Amino acid sequence: MSRNKINIGVVGIGGYAESITNLVLESNDKLDTDFALIAVCDPALDQFTDRVKQLKQQGIQVSDNYDDLLNNPDIQAIWLPVPHHLHASFSIRALEAGKAVMCEKPAAGNLAEVDSMIDAETKTKLPLLIGFQEIYDPNTLLLKKRLLNNDFGKIQTVSCRASWPKKLSYYNRNQWAGKAVFNDHIINDSPVTNAMGHFANLCLFFAGPSPKQNATPLSVQGQTLRAHNIENFDTASITATTDTNIPITLLLTHAGDQLLNPVIMIHCDNAIITRTLEQITIEYKDSTPTETINLILRDRIPMLQGFADAIQNHPARDNQIWATLNIARKHVQLIELVSQLPITSVPNTLIAHTNKDTDRGTIIPNLMNIFEQAQLSQQRPESLLETIESAHN
Ligand SMILES: NC(=O)c1ccc[n+]([C@@H]2O[C@H](COP(=O)([O-])OP(=O)(O)OC[C@H]3O[C@@H](n4cnc5c(N)ncnc54)[C@H](O)[C@@H]3O)[C@@H](O)[C@H]2O)c1
Repeated sequence: MSRNKINIGVVGIGGYAESITNLVLESNDKLDTDFALIAVCDPALDQFTDRVKQLKQQGIQVSDNYDDLLNNPDIQAIWLPVPHHLHASFSIRALEAGKAVMCEKPAAGNLAEVDSMIDAETKTKLPLLIGFQEIYDPNTLLLKKRLLNNDFGKIQTVSCRASWPKKLSYYNRNQWAGKAVFNDHIINDSPVTNAMGHFANLCLFFAGPSPKQNATPLSVQGQTLRAHNIENFDTASITATTDTNIPITLLLTHAGDQLLNPVIMIHCDNAIITRTLEQITIEYKDSTPTETINLILRDRIPMLQGFADAIQNHPARDNQIWATLNIARKHVQLIELVSQLPITSVPNTLIAHTNKDTDRGTIIPNLMNIFEQAQLSQQRPESLLETIESAHN
């Protein structure tokens, strides 16, 4: 019997779009349904001449215009690894053209745009999922169900600490990185929104009231800091209150003095759960042996399978969570609340630079020690800047 195929178009050729194009091209035979990449578009084709040649050799149509994909009746689905200010309008145009959509995270940088996406999804009855690959791993839903089943006692706090130090080239790679507003769109680009948005969203998910719902953030306290020379912030030390009464603390930075991949901790009455990129560890407070669960999410295949299922009108599988707009909207609520905090610039005396002459990195010495202590003790510093100052003196 021949396998079903879904014809897909990817918007964008460079940046993360290159990874998505490769992911789709290499996904065949790993899914119940194959994706056939039949077209890509990017207005900056002259920047990607080798890649364009390669794609054309594989029979993929290449265009500089998104309308060419929208007007192509053979395309059923569109993937949007595009700049954040285009997420809403490009998603809505695809839905209105009759295509299913996988839009990269965040859904958008502000709630008004997410709500316009929800309206279009309701009107067209086509699926629009968000590319939060971390959440699609079946082990994520399994853990959530055990949390809701009270297997570890009451949840006290959910937190995440992470440091992906960035250099000038990260903020110079496009025109919108590090901006609060771009092309008249509120994009709120920051660690909470973008690179580490997956983990902010996962914290909301683990604190959520039912298996497939995020917690709703209600208010945010804490501080956002700017160490790099950017418009928005690159460091957040915040706690959100939620409708499930589980506080969520985020300690996220692009100016850390060490690299630390995201560590989510769920402190419960009877256990401490630690989720890294590779595994979930459950340490019980009594003599129950520690559990270790390996994650499989890094290949992004569960996300593709979820998208294929949604396109074919299959319900989500029992072990599968999809990053729907309902889930992603809570992340954007958090983004909006955090954006209301005033941003404090870190004084130059508290900053160090790496790679001084070329691609300069900006770091805050001692920051990762401060984050670690805060996460382990469940005590976020009242003022992060004052704590950095005292560590410096
Ligand atoms: N899921 C993940 O782990 C992950 C990782 C990185 C980036 N992302 C997401 O991917 C998206 C793209 O991020 P990026 O940093 O690569 O952005 P980027 O600005 O570097 O651009 C990506 C591509 O989009 C193209 N593009 C720009 N305007 C376009 C238009 N009008 N039509 C078609 N293509 C256009 C650019 O030329 C570029 O090739 C963002 O939503 C980001 O959050 C997701």
